[in-house]
Amino acid sequence: MSATILDGNRTAAEIRAEVAEEIRTLSAAGLKPGLAVLLVGNNPASEIYVRGKVKSSEELGIYSEKHTPPTSSSTEELLQLVHDLNRRDEIDGILVQLPLPPQIDSKRVLTAVDPAKDVDGFHPMNVGLLSTQRPALVPCTPAGIMEILKRANIPVAGQEAVVVGRSDIVGKPTAMLLINGNATVTVCHSKTRDLPGVCRRADILVAALGRAGMITPAYVKPGATVIDVGTNQITTRADFDKFFQGNDQREQIFRRKGSTLIGDVDPEVAQVAGAITPVPGGVGPLTIVMLMANTVRAMKLRRASRKAELSRA
Ligand code: GUN
Repeated sequence: MSATILDGNRTAAEIRAEVAEEIRTLSAAGLKPGLAVLLVGNNPASEIYVRGKVKSSEELGIYSEKHTPPTSSSTEELLQLVHDLNRRDEIDGILVQLPLPPQIDSKRVLTAVDPAKDVDGFHPMNVGLLSTQRPALVPCTPAGIMEILKRANIPVAGQEAVVVGRSDIVGKPTAMLLINGNATVTVCHSKTRDLPGVCRRADILVAALGRAGMITPAYVKPGATVIDVGTNQITTRADFDKFFQGNDQREQIFRRKGSTLIGDVDPEVAQVAGAITPVPGGVGPLTIVMLMANTVRAMKLRRASRKAELSRA
């Protein structure tokens, strides 16, 4: 039996339509959400991500602007740019694309973003609010994972969830959202003993470790839901044959582009899992649409709280 494919493109389109409707309502009231994206230097992967974020904003009617300081920028220069954006009322969301160049103090820059405009949910204030069950702005990929589960009617409460990977961007906030949803959560990492054994306990297995195809069927309980957050490029014939031999569609992509995308989950897992997100077309499409949703949310939270302040004055 083959797993149900959890179609991220379809879920993202559903959410996109809901966000578009909200934006139309706001627009009728003369309000337009605004997003500023900071891309420092020219990391090719970051350039692709940022292009997608700006394009998606434009399509949805969110005002967006891209700031591209050079790779040689100093921490102080970026702090000044963030402070300027914090002060501008028409900017509701500020996103600092990671990674930043090594000479930059990334934590200082992320902490300088006004928590009310922190559409990535990376500011310690928003991390704290999430961990104390008062989520305000939640990191986009973890929020997208929860939407996939919710909209596929996959129960979370009371389930065993295992998150492989403890990054600040994905692993930790995903674990927090699953805890808030009343799952029993285990977070694994490179020092975890008997990783396959721990993963086999999972009803919901989230793979966010950044290693091509590492989660094989031996890590998966039959019938489990598997969420694959990885995006890794396969560039050698040996790796291609290991994961995709006999897959004609992938063969064509690999021949045309010289590479193909694979998640952290071995495609063979689809023979064991109950439901699985594909790569590409699983979690990826949710990340951008949740950023759009967060920008609208940031606008509503900030401008509504200001209105309350004004009415008290
Ligand atoms: N780099 C990789 N993922 C992300 C993300 O979700 N947000 C930002 N800002 N940078 C990233």
